[in-house]
Amino acid sequence: MRFVRFFVLVPSAITIAVDAFHDCVQSRRSSLKRRRRRPGRPSFSSDTSSPCSGGICVGMTDGPHQGGNASYPVAWNGTTGTRLEAFMTVPQYPKALDGITYYIWTDIFFGDESLGRMNQLVPQLLLGSVLDESTGPPDYKPKWHTHATWMFGAHYFFETLNLTTMKTESHAAYGPLFPAYPGEKVYTLFEMILEGTQDDADTTSNKTSYVTDSFFPIWTLTMQVVGDPARMSILPIRHPYMGMGRNGPRPSYSWFEPNFQHLCLNSCWELYGAIDAEHLPTSGAVYNLTITQPKQEHSHAYYDFTTWEQDEGNGICPSCRVEEHHSRDTQQVNIEIQVV
Ligand SMILES: *[C@@H]1O[C@H](CO)[C@@H](O)[C@H](O)[C@H]1NC(C)=O
Ligand SMILES: *[C@@H]1O[C@H](CO)[C@@H](O)[C@H](O)[C@H]1NC(C)=O
Ligand SMILES: *[C@@H]1O[C@H](CO)[C@@H](O)[C@H](O)[C@H]1NC(C)=O
Ligand SMILES: *[C@@H]1O[C@H](CO)[C@@H](O)[C@H](O)[C@H]1NC(C)=O
Ligand SMILES: *[C@@H]1O[C@H](CO)[C@@H](O)[C@H](O)[C@H]1NC(C)=O
Repeated sequence: MRFVRFFVLVPSAITIAVDAFHDCVQSRRSSLKRRRRRPGRPSFSSDTSSPCSGGICVGMTDGPHQGGNASYPVAWNGTTGTRLEAFMTVPQYPKALDGITYYIWTDIFFGDESLGRMNQLVPQLLLGSVLDESTGPPDYKPKWHTHATWMFGAHYFFETLNLTTMKTESHAAYGPLFPAYPGEKVYTLFEMILEGTQDDADTTSNKTSYVTDSFFPIWTLTMQVVGDPARMSILPIRHPYMGMGRNGPRPSYSWFEPNFQHLCLNSCWELYGAIDAEHLPTSGAVYNLTITQPKQEHSHAYYDFTTWEQDEGNGICPSCRVEEHHSRDTQQVNIEIQVV
């Protein structure tokens, strides 16, 4: 059965200001570094003084990287939901691979519910000593491996507070890993799909009670090499925190929950150990992102798209150029990263 009735996960794009809370949470750079950088290896190199070093991030103006609250509503119009498609080129290898941990990606991320502390949908390109595998249920602990050539896969990274230790612990889920080669183009799709039919939903009360076991949204991540469908990594995320949030004092297990109703986006070269030009990719990369919001029937509303800009990294080397334009429902972002 098809959905015929229009609804959005938030009442409408126009009413965001009324909701008025900042629900995309970016883990502090220092805590991310602690968990994603291989212990004992050099630091995120924008900390270093070398003029040609470190990573770079591009994101929504006034987004969480900048301490701001910019975010986009997650919407569904009965047939289509909010989606993001991104293309990027695979850069040339660095001259020196020792000590590096590279994660290169376009992500979407959400706020937290319950014991969640980080909630990032991040299919990524990998190089060096990286987190690239998960123990799977029930703990979803990430595991380290070392790669001397590019690999990629769909990936969900999240953190939860462990009430026994009172420590924030990282968790991950992965689609299959595949190799990628310099100069190739990699495509990433983030898509919200509704499982079940609206007949299965409890629509008699409020939004929260849409949540039933047979009607819920699934975020599906797909990453593949353009022109080679055999190298395609898919990860459907049926429940936030892969269901680990079910057991908290305030259980969380549906993407319908309030703090998942807005999302934030970034594209990053998250490079650890890129301490100098030798440890940076020897070429830049080109990205393009298309963010599409579903058309709202009987509405001429515009979605609130922000501008985009570089928000992390020294911006000198690597440097980047960012341009953005949008219509009512679609935003196009083009990014060109250069290593000089
Ligand atoms: C973001 O914060 C500003 C300043 O505090 C506020 O005026 C604005 O309504 C907020 N926007 C959202 C989307 O919450
Ligand atoms: C929390 O930490 C305890 C003690 O280290 C561990 O036994 C338990 O598995 C952890 N819980 C989760 C959900 O990871
Ligand atoms: C709406 O949802 C809230 C939060 O789950 C719940 O406490 C309340 O009872 C619900 N209201 C109705 C009318 O079902
Ligand atoms: C984005 O890049 C891909 C790969 O180069 C290209 O096929 C596509 O047309 C581009 N999209 C836009 C909107 O420029
Ligand atoms: C939902 O949005 C999509 C994309 O904007 C559009 O093609 C489709 O016609 C819309 N469906 C409804 C029922 O409005």
